[in-house]
Amino acid sequence: MCGIFGYLNYLVKRDRRFIADILINGLHRLEYRGYDSSGIAFDGDEYLGQSDDPSSKAKRACIVVRQKGKVEELEHATKSLENINWDAEFTVHVGIAHTRWATHGEPSAVNSHPQRSDEQNQFVCVHNGIITNYKDIKQYLTNKGYQFESETDTEVVVKLVKYLYDKHKNEKITFQKLIEMACSQLEGAFALLFKSTHFPGELCATRRGSPMVIGVKCADQLAANHIPVMFSKDLFNHQNTKDSRNDVHLSETTSSNLRGVFSPPLMITDQNTSELSVTGNDRSIEYYFASDASAIIEHTNQVIFMEDDDLAVVSNGALTIHRTQHGEVSGQSAIREIHELKIELQQIMKGNYKYFMQKEIYEQPESVVNTMRGRVNFNTRKVVLGGIKDYISEIRRCRRLILIACGTSYHSAVATRQLLEELSELPVMVELASDFLDRNTPVFRDDVCIFISQSGETADTILALRYCKQRGALIVGFTNTVGSSISRESHCGVHINAGPEIGVASTKAYTSQFLALVLFGLVLSEDSISKEPRRRAIIDGLQQLPDLIKKVLQCDKKIREYAEALYKESSLLVMGRGFNFATCLEGALKVKELTYMHSEGILAGELKHGPLAMVDDNMPIVMIIMDDPVKTKCMNAYSQVQARGGQPVLICNDDDEELIKLANRNITVPRTVDCLQGILCVVPMQLLSFHIAVLRGYDVDCPRNLAKSVTVA
Ligand code: AGP
Ligand code: GLU
Repeated sequence: MCGIFGYLNYLVKRDRRFIADILINGLHRLEYRGYDSSGIAFDGDEYLGQSDDPSSKAKRACIVVRQKGKVEELEHATKSLENINWDAEFTVHVGIAHTRWATHGEPSAVNSHPQRSDEQNQFVCVHNGIITNYKDIKQYLTNKGYQFESETDTEVVVKLVKYLYDKHKNEKITFQKLIEMACSQLEGAFALLFKSTHFPGELCATRRGSPMVIGVKCADQLAANHIPVMFSKDLFNHQNTKDSRNDVHLSETTSSNLRGVFSPPLMITDQNTSELSVTGNDRSIEYYFASDASAIIEHTNQVIFMEDDDLAVVSNGALTIHRTQHGEVSGQSAIREIHELKIELQQIMKGNYKYFMQKEIYEQPESVVNTMRGRVNFNTRKVVLGGIKDYISEIRRCRRLILIACGTSYHSAVATRQLLEELSELPVMVELASDFLDRNTPVFRDDVCIFISQSGETADTILALRYCKQRGALIVGFTNTVGSSISRESHCGVHINAGPEIGVASTKAYTSQFLALVLFGLVLSEDSISKEPRRRAIIDGLQQLPDLIKKVLQCDKKIREYAEALYKESSLLVMGRGFNFATCLEGALKVKELTYMHSEGILAGELKHGPLAMVDDNMPIVMIIMDDPVKTKCMNAYSQVQARGGQPVLICNDDDEELIKLANRNITVPRTVDCLQGILCVVPMQLLSFHIAVLRGYDVDCPRNLAKSVTVA
């Protein structure tokens, strides 16, 4: 998600204008990832007295500029700051910048990053990802008298750092130890950059589950082509020690989720051998920190890829990388190589992919994890959806669930309807928003209306939402965009957390919507003892999902070969039933919107009621037959098609020998729980439509006549 950029110049004179430009330019490079607001922090002119540090560098005030909307608007806001000397020169300076894609709190200036510890901006930080235990930390700090200005999870991090600083400042705590202590309390996924008025010229960066790259540029040769990792050690045995001088027992006042104690780790490695610095007399050096190499490549091709739980610190121009022993992964390398990037900027923007859609298809093993993060506990098999938890009993008592959406989002409702009926034992209606409105559908106060939308801005869906709200129904939003109209106008909701989706054809948002609705079903059935075995099987299935998607993606080459055989055709029928009827609809929609071919998703049970007339030995067909309760019925449909000369490409389970033998043209997917199988089966259809479109020479990311967000009804 989103973008981080940081720039540190050491013994390289840069004026403030240059620094602001480099930060803003870094953000422009990250824009392609999608974002809703942005911000930067750099030094001001005002002096804050001398630093406590004996090496005594001047402490300067920190200026933070944050803006909702485009980076251009941030640039404008920055350049319009009053009383700023843009020509002021800095020999040593740290600047940080961010493009935010909101997960906690709507897009607004105050929720944008850098988030700050206080009104003096003593500590500022930028963050990608989600801190899942932020509520506990927020509660802890609120009890200590801290006040929060934003709704973000990020603000708790920077306030926690300030809290620890105030507690330990008399011990002359270092920036590194401070950040190490704070981060040891964080759960979730993050990449973080910190800057502080107390530690001028120093920068700390860390990551867990979210990328961070460091670029290094210097006039002279670097002293080494790698940097050793410094392992720090907790010298306090918390279990036994009675000396709680340095300990902060968060768990006394907050939930047991917090890991308990802070303690300052002490370094056991010789600092002199473990830093990255330059040889020769010219010790000038510049560092670039970014969540994505695309923001670095124009400055330098020498980069270090940080690993999870690494803490990178630049102090006095030297870079060191630290790990605490408890964070050490066995077999973890004790060095970080300095790599030479040989790729072009354009390539990096889309990673190794040529198209955003392709990148987004390949991101699905990761995006499904993000949808589940902080919500599914695989050990206790408990599912919590924070955004709707206060409404669950009201939802359980409702007359019916009405799922309303358009296009792909509608298909996610079709895909999960059967499971929602099974787990909630409620009547479940699925509705296309435009048709729902055309019919003036009766809606009642005791209905629960669920609106599913990637963008959260689809006009038809919003109109249907307002229609239901007027009639007194409970409105639940499932969106991928915090602060969107649908999320604002809903009474409660679930953020699907798929990350920004740029390709017009929805792919990873579909699988995340599907998954979020499965989680919803699991939450609704939580108190049912008879459903326990089913719930357990589904939750176990969820845990394996990322690996299984990776396996499906391995079929890409074979799918491309089928695409080569199909791309000159003018029609493609996609047939299936049961849990995979939605996969047929979604697969056919992908084919239509990307390849402009005629395509239909057909319920296999309906074949003999009409569509069978289209089948002959020329009609291209894909059939989805999983080894599930409707397999026999699907096999009947297969026989009917074969009897008319049809030769479908079969999507089936990879261990279903019978089907693999039957159809020599097949795409196999791993077996999972029946209600999750659609998440795996849709991936070959996404890839097939993608390859056909590429072979036809069409613009995959922006198909003709379509827009990413359909804001007209
Ligand atoms: C999906 O590939 C399409 N671009 C389209 O059907 C889309 O799903 C539909 O317009 C709904 O959009 P939403 O999820 O943003 O509401
Ligand atoms: N969770 C943070 C927020 O909502 C960071 C989101 C991001 O990755 O941009 O502010």
